Amino acid sequence: MKSSTTTLVHTRADLAAALDAADGEIAVVMTMGALHEGHRQLMRVARERSAFVVVTVFVNPLQFGPNEDYEKYPRTLDDDLVACRAEGVDLVFAPGRDDVYPHGAPSITMHPGELGEILEGASRPGHFSGMLTVVEKLLLLTRADVAYFGEKDFQQLALIRRMARDLELPVEIVGVPTVREKDGLALSSRNRYLSPEERLAALALSRALREGAAHRDADAVLAAAHKILAEEPGVRVDYLALTGADLGPAPQEGPARLLVAAKVGTTRLIDNVSLTLQRGA
Ligand code: PAJ
Repeated sequence: MKSSTTTLVHTRADLAAALDAADGEIAVVMTMGALHEGHRQLMRVARERSAFVVVTVFVNPLQFGPNEDYEKYPRTLDDDLVACRAEGVDLVFAPGRDDVYPHGAPSITMHPGELGEILEGASRPGHFSGMLTVVEKLLLLTRADVAYFGEKDFQQLALIRRMARDLELPVEIVGVPTVREKDGLALSSRNRYLSPEERLAALALSRALREGAAHRDADAVLAAAHKILAEEPGVRVDYLALTGADLGPAPQEGPARLLVAAKVGTTRLIDNVSLTLQRGA
């Protein structure tokens, strides 16, 4: 069921007016733009279920560190609109900084807790606080009943679920599996920074996760993944971690997650896969 028109709004007032006219369940897909097939998959899953689908496009300054790529992050709103139209999205909210933060940088922000201090949180101080703060604001502004997030950013998804649970937010959070290129590379807006040589080197991330996840014993999983990453000189590993499915300590048996972050040239990439551990395997 595709809607025939996609409305673009930039301000809170126009967003509110468009939502006042909406009927039925409201779904939101939040993005920073530079939309690719990963984002589009979230839109498709949302479109299948909900009467009204909102996509937000906002490069959130609060979640970028001082030495990160906020300034050069790709901004491609015209192309993004074409993608949203093709996916039958009802409403695109592409606010400016002042529409999201009308009072300047907020003095009250989200505190992600312990889960926000490991992995990405350890490498990117303040990132999750800024991310959760904007997600909470956008959930309320879009009046979302259901919100879709990719497993590609697995820790982000886990933190958003926890925020909704711990703060009683009246929204359902749905995770969507990672969309990959045919050769395994996880789609990311940052892939466009990669030179052809760097893109080739970046394949080591998904290969390492795939090879690791083929094992059942925790040591073997990590050894196999480490080996592949060590063989690729173009990749500087930030972390390779084996955890439980909830990002807690890895169990001896049962569902687990293997996560990697690395720099390829100046581009920082992340990826993760699910796997099942088995003792003595
Ligand atoms: P962004 O990186 O644009 O991603 C927007 C959404 O698309 C996130 O839920 C992300 O997990 C999902 N996504 C990205 N690549 C994907 C892939 N290859 N497969 C499946 N899903 C994918 O994540 C953010 O923006 C921001 O932190 C945001 C949540 C919008 C808050 O600013």
